[in-house]
Amino acid sequence: MELRGELGSSRTWFWLVALLFAYASFTVKSVESTNQLKDEFVQRAADRVKWLPGQPASFTFRQYAGYVNVEGDIGRHLFYYLAESPKNCSGKPLVLWLNGGPGCSSMGNGWAEELGPFHITENGTGLVLNTKSWIRYANLLFLDSPTGVGYSYSDNPEENHSGGDARTAEDSYTFLIRWLERFPEYKTRDFYITGESYAGHYIPQLAALIHERNKDAELKINLKGIMVGNPSTDNYYDSIGAIDYWLSHAMISPKTHDDLHRACNFTDPNCCSQECNDKYYYANQVEIGGIDSYNVNSPSCPSADDGAPQKRRRLTQSSRSKNPVHVKPCFLFQFQFDLLAYIGARNQRTNYEGGYLCVYQTLGEKRSLSDRLNVGCSFCEW
Ligand SMILES: *[C@@H]1O[C@H](CO)[C@@H](O)[C@H](O)[C@H]1NC(C)=O
Ligand SMILES: *[C@@H]1O[C@H](CO)[C@@H](O)[C@H](O)[C@H]1NC(C)=O
Ligand SMILES: *[C@@H]1O[C@H](CO)[C@@H](O)[C@H](O)[C@H]1NC(C)=O
Ligand SMILES: *[C@@H]1O[C@H](CO)[C@@H](O)[C@H](O)[C@H]1NC(C)=O
Repeated sequence: MELRGELGSSRTWFWLVALLFAYASFTVKSVESTNQLKDEFVQRAADRVKWLPGQPASFTFRQYAGYVNVEGDIGRHLFYYLAESPKNCSGKPLVLWLNGGPGCSSMGNGWAEELGPFHITENGTGLVLNTKSWIRYANLLFLDSPTGVGYSYSDNPEENHSGGDARTAEDSYTFLIRWLERFPEYKTRDFYITGESYAGHYIPQLAALIHERNKDAELKINLKGIMVGNPSTDNYYDSIGAIDYWLSHAMISPKTHDDLHRACNFTDPNCCSQECNDKYYYANQVEIGGIDSYNVNSPSCPSADDGAPQKRRRLTQSSRSKNPVHVKPCFLFQFQFDLLAYIGARNQRTNYEGGYLCVYQTLGEKRSLSDRLNVGCSFCEW
């Protein structure tokens, strides 16, 4: 009996102490998370963008821009811009947009020329509302990824921006988890990932990671779907696809199409032969001419020889397509420097070298197109 009594009392102590511990750690944890919540709340207010230079007065949506650190003390800071839908934003999904490259800012083509809330005026002096912006249907989150791209940067001077696709996905995942602490109302919102070009690699890899992490994570990202536009997937199929698309849109002749198929061996990692390059050049310069292959229905551009960055998909340096819209990227580039002051892009280390919107080539992994790793931005995929 006595023995049982002793055992009983030590057990009581045990539970008492355990309870105290649990309570203490709970308190510490909740203080910590309360502080973190407060920080995020303050940061969110600081991220609010009230005005952009040249912005039309008639806008009715909220926009935010800022950084999320995806590392520890020596941080990697990913830049984001959020535009909320003007009407009933709480009833609309959250859509993450990623530009490609690798190495292109989502604030370049995506934000400024395609789906963003504004377009830049032709002379580069201001902004106009983009009546076709996707903010009509969704809350748009633009992310400059990975670090080194656009406004995103690293504190580590050794950072070589060649972490590869796996780290890009990891960082983007961490970004999302931490960003959702700043914007908790989006935690349960339907979430989609979309983007273009090299994001054909980023997007499925990020989606796969989210799917995997959701199994154990406390915060499950409510991923509903992904969408890739003009994606880079596989060198062979992408190249064949481009050529077939040109033919099906009467941009090249059947003969040139056949010539390309004959002369180019796209399964060859060292593609392409001189003959293939010549045919490709001919197709682009002579037959496709001024048609913008990124937007074949748009009016053609007179010339790309205006100091604008060359855009091309692959193959030879000589093939180049024209600017997709009537915005001179060089103006855009100057404009973006002005934006720095307004959108909270505090990092002056961001380097729009040579006026390119695609900054710092970032190496993809070997399996994602090793043949195009060692190239500058004039070879950029968007
Ligand atoms: C807002 O969106 C939700 C979800 O789509 C919808 O159910 C609701 O009717 C919308 N409210 C208004 C006022 O449009
Ligand atoms: C730029 O274009 C806008 C119209 O798009 C015009 O109102 C403005 O005066 C122009 N500015 C300059 C400096 O040409
Ligand atoms: C760049 O970073 C990658 C990935 O962290 C690393 O494997 C590589 O050695 C680094 N290269 C240089 C030159 O530091
Ligand atoms: C194309 O390149 C691949 C890889 O180098 C090679 O195996 C194949 O034989 C080539 N095909 C032709 C038709 O030359």
